[in-house]
Amino acid sequence: MTDYKTLEHEYGVPLQAKRDLVAVRGSGASLYDEAGQEYIDCAGGIGVASLGHSHPRLVKAIKQQAETLITCPNIMYNDVRSKLLEKLVEVTPTSLTRAYLCNSGAESIEAALKFSRLHSGRTNFVTAMRGFHGRTMGAVSATYTPKYREAFQPLIPGFDYVPFNKIEKLDAAVDDNTAAVMFELVQGEGGVNPIQPEYLAAARKLCTDRGVLLIIDEIQTGFCRTGKFFASDHFDLQPDIMCVAKAMGGGVPIGATLLNADIQIEPGLHGTTFGGNPLACAAALAAIDVYQSDNLAHRAAELGDYFETQLNSSDLSQVRALRRLGLMIGIELKQKVQDKLAQLLERRIIALPAGPNVIRLLPPLVIEKRQIDRVVEVFRELLA
Ligand SMILES: Cc1ncc(COP(=O)(O)O)c(C=O)c1O
Repeated sequence: MTDYKTLEHEYGVPLQAKRDLVAVRGSGASLYDEAGQEYIDCAGGIGVASLGHSHPRLVKAIKQQAETLITCPNIMYNDVRSKLLEKLVEVTPTSLTRAYLCNSGAESIEAALKFSRLHSGRTNFVTAMRGFHGRTMGAVSATYTPKYREAFQPLIPGFDYVPFNKIEKLDAAVDDNTAAVMFELVQGEGGVNPIQPEYLAAARKLCTDRGVLLIIDEIQTGFCRTGKFFASDHFDLQPDIMCVAKAMGGGVPIGATLLNADIQIEPGLHGTTFGGNPLACAAALAAIDVYQSDNLAHRAAELGDYFETQLNSSDLSQVRALRRLGLMIGIELKQKVQDKLAQLLERRIIALPAGPNVIRLLPPLVIEKRQIDRVVEVFRELLA
């Protein structure tokens, strides 16, 4: 049998610690290795596989579009792209009236930063401590975690990081040079930290009062993950700019930067070759159709509650806190999580860290109750 692990080690650039698992097939919330062993996938493609793996309606849409038209640059109009743009504006908060299509989360952040500078004529940004926005030069400049940034200095100047949920710190950091304030509504990589509604309302007001754009990074929280279509919907929030990606295409790479009606960008100042290609747009249209028709937001809310109730029904002495919105779940332990992640994998459950002490679960929203029961059973065994 081909040794895929050796091939990846030999020919790949080793940027991420690998789990001892070659995943070759997926269905619903299950992944299968070469030997056909089943794993419960609570990593969900790091928040991408919200529809579950290889959802039949997604597969059908991709197949059909592949036979029809795969690529179509933005110098031409396209039927599928136009429908996706309309759909995106329909499902996102009403303040957002147009969308720029790209291929990933980091790209959508880059566009948000550039559009903010163009619109405001100002250069600076305020983001949150423990926030995460991606790995490209602009996105990593916006990301607080020093270990992601320090090796790449000098980065883009003009970024300031303030403690999350402390309005007086935001108030002090925003000045006449601030183009935009940007944060996640539930910090994902930073430990699954939900925003406080009073802070969010005050931040929205502060930005409006001072003519500063509010960029919301919904790359991880978007498309039903948190129990609403977008996390913004929990708060009736009207962002000026919103970044989405991850679950948008059900697994096919795609992202978007949504803008309010005031933000006008002159043609020629930004662009993309692959962004808005019909194949990815068809995938996103099919994915959004499933999110809506199967009411996966409701399912995420219900299953998140179910998971929490089940987990809380036993005394888990190693757990310090459970933080959660829908099926975006963080379990903070009193110790480091690396060993626990390995033990979970031995029991065929794939989970993620969010910082040193937090186990993060982002299962497909189609996960079944019996699979949640199994995950809870293993947590009881490992964390009691
Ligand atoms: C909140 C958030 N923003 C941005 C990104 C970057 O997205 P991508 O990896 O698609 O570039 C991520 C990825 O984990 C994310 O969670």
